[in-house]
Amino acid sequence: MMQRSCQAIILAAGQGTRMKSSKPKVLHQVAHLPMVSHVAKAAINAGSQKISLVVGPDMDPVLKAVRSIHKNVQSHQQIERLGTAHAVLAAESDLGQPLDDVIILYGDTPLVESQTIASMRAALSNGADVVVLGFRAEKPDPYGRLLEEEGQLVAIREAKDASEDELKVDFCNAGIMAFSGKIILQLLKRIDNDNAQKEYYLTDAVELANRSGHKVVAMEAEEAEVQGVNSRLELARVEATFQQRARLNAMTEGATLQDPETVYFAHDTKIGRDVVIEQNVVFGPGVEVADEATIRAFSHLEGAKVASHCVIGPYARLRPGADLREAAKVGNFCEVKKAVIDQGAKVNHLSYIGDAHVGAKANIGAGTITCNYDGFNKSKTEIGAGAFIGSNSALVAPVIVEEGAIVGAGSVITKTVEANSLTLTRAKQMALSNWATKFREKNSKG
Ligand code: UD1
Ligand code: CA
Repeated sequence: MMQRSCQAIILAAGQGTRMKSSKPKVLHQVAHLPMVSHVAKAAINAGSQKISLVVGPDMDPVLKAVRSIHKNVQSHQQIERLGTAHAVLAAESDLGQPLDDVIILYGDTPLVESQTIASMRAALSNGADVVVLGFRAEKPDPYGRLLEEEGQLVAIREAKDASEDELKVDFCNAGIMAFSGKIILQLLKRIDNDNAQKEYYLTDAVELANRSGHKVVAMEAEEAEVQGVNSRLELARVEATFQQRARLNAMTEGATLQDPETVYFAHDTKIGRDVVIEQNVVFGPGVEVADEATIRAFSHLEGAKVASHCVIGPYARLRPGADLREAAKVGNFCEVKKAVIDQGAKVNHLSYIGDAHVGAKANIGAGTITCNYDGFNKSKTEIGAGAFIGSNSALVAPVIVEEGAIVGAGSVITKTVEANSLTLTRAKQMALSNWATKFREKNSKG
């Protein structure tokens, strides 16, 4: 079968006043990715070759968010918001020579899955001309109702225009539609605004298509998948749904989550097999955890790589550029930033390791700090393989501790530590015998 070509049109002109926000609604993030980028990702994964984006005035950051997903994006301004059909027509110039499949998506409905879009495309390739995605709404009140007759979708009735009988239908319009590229423009151009809201309804395309003898079908999705976001409360609900999905997915792929509800993933978290994740772990963006690693309770990871057999936490913080190699350990109350912790090395207690390379099997004592910042510049600390850094040492970067060296506890290291040496910078210990006894006696008299 010939591959069908596909383009997506993402509607995102609404400012989203109910968010009470200074930024456009679709830039609010779900799992650390703007909603509109989630939508673009789903469109691309379902095979769209290009994306047309419909935005309101002053929405360049929205275009940027979509371009970060895919280069081939054309943006169009809809100045006046006269309805969903009017919004799609703002992208008319991209429909001059339309591709085989045209998918309409909303920028504020971020959880739609690429498989769903792909099945809508499959329906087009099986002969449908228009495909509408519906869902059984728990509270259908605000939604357009899908009116079917013998497997054909005959109309979508907006709630404000619906009869009492039509309002009883709970099969609702999610807003996501697929059109055969051959007919979309001619349908859209016939839509008028003769309705309760004086808007150009995209949903009217269904009745018009029926009148022209086209095949129109509805498909059904779960309500959670097509939940739109109009308020902060709905944003939180969508986030919760995303997290449920991500937890389920991690477990399906072979990770153990000891208390799934307390683990939070980012949109791009990669978790290997036989990874164990304890309670209350948070993944920011850009984390990869390889097979058989353990992430202990209350750890926070972001922009970090964790190789197999590593053990992190409890209470560890891995920041961007943390790169833990095979079987490394980062323990409680340690922070690692932009640093390689090489194979089998240990940073177990209360340390800050930033802009550093910790060699294989090195042991970093409790409370060690790499002093990487002088207020202006960041400098690097190099710690050789097998080195042992005594507790409460400060390594003032740029500085090198060569392999196999031992740094005495409490040292402040500012110069190269020679390989296999013992280096310490603290004052010699002295004792005044019985001084304490005499001191107490003197002070307790009278
Ligand atoms: C629309 C559907 C309704 C469906 C509901 C699902 C129509 C006429 N109605 O209703 O059947 O049940 O979505 O949520 O299509 N937008 C623009 N420009 C416009 C109007 C809308 O870009 O002029 C964008 C919005 O930013 C939003 C999306 O289109 O992302 C939907 O708009 P919204 O006003 O929420 O649609 P409803 O009228 O609620
Ligand atoms: Ca809406």
